[in-house]
Amino acid sequence: MSLQATLSVRVASALQAAGIEDSLAVVMPSVDTRFGDYQTNAAMVAAKALKKNPRELAASILSHLHVEDLCEVPTVAGAGFINFKVLDATLSEALNGVRGDGRLGVIPVGSPKTIIIDFSSPNVAKPMHVGHIRSTILGDSLARIARRLGHRVVTDNHIGDWGTQFGKVIHGWKHLLNAEALEKAPIAELVRLYREVNSAEENNPGLKETVRHELVKLQQGDPENLEIWKQAVALSWKEFERLYGLLDITFDERLGESFYNDALAPLVERLLNEEIAEKSEGAVCVFFRGSPELEEKPCLIRKSDGGFLYATTDLATLEYREQRWKPDAVWYVTGAPQQLHFEQVFATARRMGVTTDLRHIAFGSILGEDRKMMKTRSGENVELGGLLSEAIERALTVVAEKNPDLSKDQQEEVARIIGLGAVKYADLMQHRLTDYVFSWDKMLSFQGNTAPYLQNAYVRIRSIFRKAEAEGISTAVSPIVIADLAERALALQIIQFSEVLYTVLEDQRPNLLCLYLYELADRFHKFYEACPVIKSGGDVRASRLTLAGLTADILRDGLGLLGIRVPERM
Ligand code: ARG
Repeated sequence: MSLQATLSVRVASALQAAGIEDSLAVVMPSVDTRFGDYQTNAAMVAAKALKKNPRELAASILSHLHVEDLCEVPTVAGAGFINFKVLDATLSEALNGVRGDGRLGVIPVGSPKTIIIDFSSPNVAKPMHVGHIRSTILGDSLARIARRLGHRVVTDNHIGDWGTQFGKVIHGWKHLLNAEALEKAPIAELVRLYREVNSAEENNPGLKETVRHELVKLQQGDPENLEIWKQAVALSWKEFERLYGLLDITFDERLGESFYNDALAPLVERLLNEEIAEKSEGAVCVFFRGSPELEEKPCLIRKSDGGFLYATTDLATLEYREQRWKPDAVWYVTGAPQQLHFEQVFATARRMGVTTDLRHIAFGSILGEDRKMMKTRSGENVELGGLLSEAIERALTVVAEKNPDLSKDQQEEVARIIGLGAVKYADLMQHRLTDYVFSWDKMLSFQGNTAPYLQNAYVRIRSIFRKAEAEGISTAVSPIVIADLAERALALQIIQFSEVLYTVLEDQRPNLLCLYLYELADRFHKFYEACPVIKSGGDVRASRLTLAGLTADILRDGLGLLGIRVPERM
């Protein structure tokens, strides 16, 4: 058990003894470390509910609290915070536990859950927009963290490979296709076809009908249209895969919308029979009468022309997932604009008897410097491939300037790590629900809360080790002794790694891991300034080298959980 968890257990029994609801026993790292290392606001929360004086309640909790083996005598501060200052011996012990543990102190969950994470999910032959970029980065990180904590994770890329866009694409393919362009840049060519037909349709109602007919033919299994569809999906997927490869992202499943096509009609019939859905003006809807949020917003599952909808596919998808994986939770990582869609799907699923924990992991937008939705100069959606190449290119300029003596190949390798890391980190460090302004300069800076800053902290530690090795100093992992204040601050941060991962997963907020790593690097720099490592000798040096080594391990591991790699030099 982590120190934080142990303290929570102790507080819980003190609350019980004081006759207070023990679920209030939440112990957190202190915000202001002058008052202590950990704190709990249990007395304040309880006082509010019981209409009592919080400081008096805190005193009464203290009289039942036994932590003398772990901390100095706890104190009450402010409006009723109880503060804990951990004994150096306790801290060393916890730290040495992390040191001797291949998992860096990360304790797997007691009862693993099966979590399906539905993320990335771009649409074939439609431009991938920045929403897909955020989904890709965020979903991948959440999957990594959930796995690290011992959950069973199934990642599924629910690509949009069966939408109405195919009427346009097929018509364009038959009449406007540039085979050479398709060969060179398939997605761009498919998007071009889509756009051209789309705008031609606008002042040509006849064309609209023809295009719709192509779609109907596809849906009815016309061999020619089916073949075009297959090729378009395969070409798009190839390009998506290249990007996922670059980003080091993999999926367990890639069950796109088309996979569920045959399940849609029977599903709607079943929902009608079970009186979950009803006919309304020729269409089929699920009504949520009496629901304050959804009363006026029925979920449409079949249009009056017989066509099915995004929601219909999501319901079929959920049924399939329920049967195949029996998940405890399904997480849908998509932008905030899809909130209503998921509320409707989840509410319908409840009616169907699904009890799984369904969550829409929503996120905000990426904005351009003008604070409007990020677009390219010509006003189009920013394309992920171009964005990543630019990141690598810009990183290369920085790397070449800072490391002229690295070989060209090495420079390129480091630039890839830095450039891609910078893009991912800039996204993950934000609270996912906030919109943020995309800025190359900020994200590639070696100062501040950025990936290069953290990667650089790692590199610095590695160079300390190289130096030690060059001087014949042993770098063997040794017992850690805490003496200096800066050492203590770093040690406290290190033992909190496991707890942070739990908090991150609870609200699906990797930005808390970013913040943790940033603080870790910061405390390391302070430690390194205050405490000579190589120049000290004997046990102190061995201890400090071990502390530095642990910091590097957590930086590498923590960044890895964000999908970001570290270079050995930069
Ligand atoms: N393809 C969709 C879009 O681009 C995202 C799909 C998300 N997943 C889902 N099961 N609905 O908006």
